Amino acid sequence: MDIRVEPLPDDRKKAKVADETKLGFGRVFTDRMLLAEWKSGQGWVDARIEPYAPFVLDPACLVFHYSQEIFEGLKAYKWADGSIALFRPEMNARRFNLSAERLCMPDVPEDLFIGGIEELVRLEQDWIPTSDGTSLYIRPAMIAVEPVLGVKPSDHFYFYVILSPVGAYYAAGFNPVKILVEDKYVRAVPGGTGEAKTGGNYASSLKAGLEAKKKGYDQVLWLDGVHRRYIEEVGAMNMLFAYEDRIVTAPLTGSILNGVTRDSTLKLAAKLGMKIEERLIDINELMADVRSGKVKEAFGSGTAAVITPVGVLCYKDEVVQVGDGGVGLITQRLYDTLTGIQYGRIADEFGWVR
Ligand code: COI
Repeated sequence: MDIRVEPLPDDRKKAKVADETKLGFGRVFTDRMLLAEWKSGQGWVDARIEPYAPFVLDPACLVFHYSQEIFEGLKAYKWADGSIALFRPEMNARRFNLSAERLCMPDVPEDLFIGGIEELVRLEQDWIPTSDGTSLYIRPAMIAVEPVLGVKPSDHFYFYVILSPVGAYYAAGFNPVKILVEDKYVRAVPGGTGEAKTGGNYASSLKAGLEAKKKGYDQVLWLDGVHRRYIEEVGAMNMLFAYEDRIVTAPLTGSILNGVTRDSTLKLAAKLGMKIEERLIDINELMADVRSGKVKEAFGSGTAAVITPVGVLCYKDEVVQVGDGGVGLITQRLYDTLTGIQYGRIADEFGWVR
């Protein structure tokens, strides 16, 4: 697909953040963005890379009322030799189209999704930070822009990609977070949109997250919406538990996100000789195993969160420390291996890097 590149006038160029340790997550955006439109009867038209700017949209647009919206998250890394790597972008392209299908939105062809990202990142490569733990976060999204108040799939969509130089997602960096197991609210049920990366899932998680924050926790761990018994995911990450010789994680039953980092971490753990169990995890069994020390380590995986150690779990007012509450050896090893591949320090035997 042809992607037009529009000029970037000097007065639209922004100053870069001088101190990369102050980047935080998703507050700074680069100079350009990608935008393409899909119109009923025409398909994808007018793909262009243009100066980053606000959209002017009719307040009646479907996205503002009925949340017909999907997004993705991936990262670009600058290697020591100056080359630029994307990590498994074809998985994001595939998942984006699965989300699109669930939300009655059009398929985005790979040459627009990946080709557009590659071209945009190439143009904006000076924005990729190079300090330890930093990267360029890539946020593709699609929104429904038909201005109509009837509930229906839109006949007009924007597909766009913005870029943000980022540091760690959690303010604590690579330090253990505290997780509250949510037993009041639910995130998803079978047949719902839990597997899709759509804004509504995150909007409906805010209340639980806020209540957890007030109690001193970083995020909530969702239980399944039917039995309120089996653990699912943590909004911004999938959850994995390290026993002596295995990694245990919730299966992809349709109500949790099929994480790219989850899949990569499981493959790395298997390569390191650990058994992998994707199975229903009863929260009572999990708490007992943490209490008895059978669960040695717990960590979350996500593009933004990378691998984030979990030091404390709380369920129904019982607080348990995982292992010694610090960063465990398995968590550290998986983090080092994954980021080693992403930043080009370790050979990529899996063919993940592009
Ligand atoms: C990501 O990890 O890329 C996500 O989309 C999670 C988001 C909550 C930051």
